[in-house]
Amino acid sequence: MASPPVHVHPDPATLARAAAQRFVNLARSAISRRGVFHVALAGGNTPRRLYQTLAAPPWREAVDWSCLQVFFGDERAVAPDHPDSNYRMARENLLDHLPIPATHVHRMKGESPHLETAATEYEELLTRMLPVAEGGVPCFDLILLGLGTDGHIASLFPGTPVLEIHDRWVAPVYVDKLRSWRLTLTLPVLNRARHLLLLVAGAAKNAIVCDVFARREDAPRYPVERLSPRGTLEWFLDEAAAANTGAEGTRAP
Ligand code: 6PG
Repeated sequence: MASPPVHVHPDPATLARAAAQRFVNLARSAISRRGVFHVALAGGNTPRRLYQTLAAPPWREAVDWSCLQVFFGDERAVAPDHPDSNYRMARENLLDHLPIPATHVHRMKGESPHLETAATEYEELLTRMLPVAEGGVPCFDLILLGLGTDGHIASLFPGTPVLEIHDRWVAPVYVDKLRSWRLTLTLPVLNRARHLLLLVAGAAKNAIVCDVFARREDAPRYPVERLSPRGTLEWFLDEAAAANTGAEGTRAP
């Protein structure tokens, strides 16, 4: 498989502006072709900066936001108003600032005392609202992802059983090192999306980025290395995260 394109930007703000433009372009293309843009949001600080950018001019004026259907790639097992909630972060930094109908925002119910039920219900929502590919996999137009220093994406953490799930689209996962439960999209859904944007900024991510870019083994060592999307995967990095990888400007690793 051809290496995914890598976009390297001087700093997190420039990265966010470039990712915002890519988001807008993908949204406009999907809306013009199919009248809707199905997108899954990520949690974390790097995605947060993208949301703040999208909620401001000129990007806020560039999309017919009423055509979005907004979902989440993962959620912490907390209430929607909890400081750790990905939904709360997206609401405060993006959703409250744009004319997206509240009925078009579909959060994962992390507060549920029965996360298996919450996962099943979200899975049923996805298969009801999204195009479904072969095998029944719901197909997003875009899934946004951050990258953890341990190579996790969404809430697909190293060593968790959820990495081996291939016949479900949403699952609960207990993350030992965080001593907490999460809900997450599974790899089949990530790998079936039309587009994946991986947003990585900061020197703290440089070690994992170098390790992934220097990969020579076939066997995946990190969850991020299990991404083999049918669609496109694009890395958006700042220079601090991309240092010593040889990636500069827009080029494959
Ligand atoms: C979450 C995210 C998680 C995040 C990465 C990167 O729920 O925290 O889904 O996958 O995107 O940990 O987060 P930062 O950009 O804050 O490093």
